[in-house]
Amino acid sequence: MSTATLESILEGRRSQPQQLIEVLQDVQESYGYVPEDAMRSVSKNLGVPLMEVYRIANFYKTFSLKPRGKNVITICMGTACHVRGAHLLLDQVLGQLGLVPGATTEDGQFTVERVNCLGACALGPVVVHNGDYHHHMTPNKLRKLIASIRSTSMEEIAHA
Ligand code: FES
Repeated sequence: MSTATLESILEGRRSQPQQLIEVLQDVQESYGYVPEDAMRSVSKNLGVPLMEVYRIANFYKTFSLKPRGKNVITICMGTACHVRGAHLLLDQVLGQLGLVPGATTEDGQFTVERVNCLGACALGPVVVHNGDYHHHMTPNKLRKLIASIRSTSMEEIAHA
C-alpha cells in the first residue's frame, strides 16, 4: 500500500468523521480494495473508531476487503434471476475459472461475486462484468464472454 496515495486521500479530511464513506470510496478506487492498514489509518486520522470503519467497509458491497481481480464478474442470484437459471450461470463461471464465490484466480485476472438483485429483474438473468450489464444470459453466452475476456487479457499481456 502506497503511503503517499493514502496521505493524499486523507489530505484536508483529517478529524472529519463525516468523510468516512467518501474516504473509503477513494481508498477502494485507488487500491482496488480496502486494505487493513488503510482502515487503521483512516480510523486514526478521521477520529472514527476502528470498529465503525470495519462495520462500514463490511456493510457496503462497493467495498472489498480483499484484492479483486482485474475482471470482476458479478452474478445476480436474486429471485427473478434465480428462477431463470442464475444458478446455472454461477456453476458455469465457477467451473470455468476453478473458483468459489468471492475468490480471485491466482493470476489476478478474475474475481467472481454474487449479489441479490441488480435492479434489472425484467432482463434477467443478469451478469455484470466490471460494471457492464449483460442481460438474458445463458451458460453458453457466459462461457463465451469469459473466454473473450481471457483472450483480450492475454493479448494485452503479450503486448505490454
Ligand atoms: S433479481 Fe436479478 S436483477 Fe433483480
